[in-house]
Formats: sequence, C-alpha cells, structure tokens
Amino acid sequence: MANVTIHPARKVQGEISVPGDKSISHRALFLGALARGTTRITQGLDAADCRTTARALEDLGVEIRREKGAVLVEGRGGKFSKPQRELEMGNSGTTTRLLLGILAGQPFGATLKGDPSLSARPMGRVTEPLSAMGAQVGGPNGKDRLPLTIQGGALRGIRYALPVPSAQVKSALLLAGLFAQGPTTVVEPAVTRDHTERILKRFGADLAVEGTAVTVRPGAKLKGQDLRIPGDISSAAFFLAAAAIVPDSRVTVSGVGLNPTRTGFLELLKRMGAKIEMTCHDAVHEEWEPTGNVSVSFSPLAGIVVEKPFIPAVIDELPIFLTVATQAKGQTVVRGAGELRVKETDRIRSMVSGLTALGAKIRSEGETITVEGPTPLKGAGVDSLGDHRTAMALGVAGLAAQGPTTVRGSEWVEISFPGFFETLKGLARR
Ligand code: S3P
Repeated sequence: MANVTIHPARKVQGEISVPGDKSISHRALFLGALARGTTRITQGLDAADCRTTARALEDLGVEIRREKGAVLVEGRGGKFSKPQRELEMGNSGTTTRLLLGILAGQPFGATLKGDPSLSARPMGRVTEPLSAMGAQVGGPNGKDRLPLTIQGGALRGIRYALPVPSAQVKSALLLAGLFAQGPTTVVEPAVTRDHTERILKRFGADLAVEGTAVTVRPGAKLKGQDLRIPGDISSAAFFLAAAAIVPDSRVTVSGVGLNPTRTGFLELLKRMGAKIEMTCHDAVHEEWEPTGNVSVSFSPLAGIVVEKPFIPAVIDELPIFLTVATQAKGQTVVRGAGELRVKETDRIRSMVSGLTALGAKIRSEGETITVEGPTPLKGAGVDSLGDHRTAMALGVAGLAAQGPTTVRGSEWVEISFPGFFETLKGLARR
C-alpha cells in the first residue's frame, strides 16, 4: 500500500488542466464499440476504470488501438463476440452497469466479476429492469451482487421509473433499449448526468427527452465519431476546493467540462460565498459536451444546507464538499445522501472518520451529515479505505491543516486521476 504525505500550504496557486472526464470517456468507448466505423477519442481519461472498460470491450472482440495521442475504436455495429473468459470489472461501477445494459442485447452469455469493493455494491437496480426487458441474469449471490452471468437476447422495450436517481442505471437501460423491440423510456426521480443522452444523439441514435423522461427507439444506425473529451469537473473540484479554503489562493482549471448536470459543486461553492469566475466556450444546450475555464479565489465561506433533490448533481463531489464545509463558518448540513453509502466505499463513513481524525467537527446520522466550522484541522494519518475520491478529498484537507497529513492507500487515485498528488503539490506554496 502506498502513502502520501501532504504538508500545509500557505496558499494554492496556478493554472492547470485535469485528465479527461471519466463518465464521458467510458461512454465514448462503449458507443464507439456499438457504432459502425471508427471512433477517434482524444483527451480521454487514461486511468484504471477506463482501462477496465477498454479491456472488457477487447474481450468482446472490439479492436482498440492508440495512435498519436488518440484512442481508436473499431465499431462492431452492435454485434460482439462471446468472451473467452470472465469479464474483469475491477473497481468500476460505470463499466459494470453500462456493460450489463449492452450485454442484455447480445445473443450469448457472459460473466462479470469485480474487486471486493465492487462486489459489495448493489447491481439489482440494473439487473431487475434488464430482466423485465427479457435478459436472464443471475449469480451465486443472486441478482444484486457480482459475480453475475447475463444471457442476453430478444428484449422488449419498457417504461421504467427509476427508484433511485442513477445515471448508470438510466444509461444501462437506454443502451439495452438500442436492442429492444419498441421504445424504451426511463423516467428519473431527479436529474442525473446526461452524458449518455448527449453521446447517443451525437452517434445518431433516435432519442427523445421530455421533461424527466428519456426515450430511445431502436433501429437507428450509429456512426463512428471524432470525440474530444473535456477535463473532468469532478477531478477539477479538488483543486477548486483547495483554492476556496486556503487563504490567498487562486486556481484556474482550463478546458474542463461544464455540462450543467455536473456543475452542482460550483453552485454549492458559490452559495457558501466562494469567488468563482467561469467562461464557457460553447453553448450549454449543444449536443456535445460544453467546456470552459473555471477559477476560484479564496474568500471566507459560510455553511449551507444541501437538500436531497440536489444530491445527484454533486454525488461525486460530496467528499470534497465535506472537506470544504470544515472551513466554512457555521453549520453545513447535507440531507438525503444515502447513495454515498454504496459508492467505492461508504463515503459517509470514510469522510466522517478521515475528517474526524484531522480534528473536524463532523457527524452523520443515517443519510444526513452535519459539519460545524470553521475548525482548524491538525495533520494526522488518514485512510483512503480503498476509495479514490476519499483519498483526494482528505489530501486537500491536509493542505488546510497544521502539520503533515499522511494519506494511506493513496494509490487508489489511479482509478480516476493518476498523478493527482503531484498536481496538488505543484499548486501548493509552503
Ligand atoms: C456515473 C454516475 C454516478 C457517479 C459515478 C459515475 C456515470 O453513479 O457517482 O461516479 O458515469 O454514470 P450513479 O449512477 O450510481 O449515481
């Protein structure tokens, strides 16, 4: 296991770009594989989770190659080959759930397995509706946990109201819908990231969005595309947060994705009183993903309340948001954040224990997290608990602490952001 030691920063300063968006990179690989012709992906994320997707697709007969800084995917026109071995999902929930959707439409059986963290995460949310569409899914631990074997085939379109807001489940069903008889409609209880809708349109799918209902109709021919992936706003959030909590700081992240379903963290920072400047290069309503530059400068922050309907807009940024809340004046309350308990680790538990070790006043009860601030943090040993975003959120807390902070299990950042701690240290002035 690797450790990283973070020293307190006098200020955090600089302009950076961040690796490609993880959600969009996965989808670019999947859609490239589903389409006809070649898809050329530039600035895609090259990290463990996306490599898991690429490897699984290769096991399904997809040719993927690297050429002059681009990744080229040779589309199979929706028809894959039966894999010769079990498909390894590693730590990646997005790979697993989206791939289950695609495999539901394939006329062969395939088995998916994952690491211990992924094998403890709920899969029934996708396997139940896929079964309702006609796929056969099961495994030694039932339908809700990996390992799972899925036998796809003739699917029927369904109308399905998601019991929990989840872009992964929505995406799995829309991808399965490409192979179904008749339309498939997914109704969301709250808005979640819409990357699948955008990329399906870009590839030429027959897709309609009406309020909270998304409908895909089968039959359209998907065509390979040339895709440039924006920087990941969820990765940028760590550095923007650092600038928001360390006095005298200013950080700019350029070329970052500004899809409105992903910028919730910036809204929360603004509500707390952070100084944010944003320039968006493209119209946000365009079919592809809008990008731009975001700068955050330090200013004193105040605690806020985040209610349940807002949770999907900041689901991946909640760990770093809790770090920020320790430095805001007064009480910050996050309600309805139960989905955090079924991420790569129970992120309520991992963040409450890590920030408590650093001296923060933070507590949780069920789905509610309460933070009292501002607390002067004191450097200590903390643990990623095998979770990339916990490792990064605690690392940023270390910049605002007195004395050194050691993050155990720092190698988990490889899941979404190789080189994270080097970038963080490059911005920190001691
Ligand atoms: C993702 C959706 C979210 C998010 C995850 C990526 C996606 O998960 O937390 O990091 O790419 O669709 P849920 O769908 O489980 O909320």
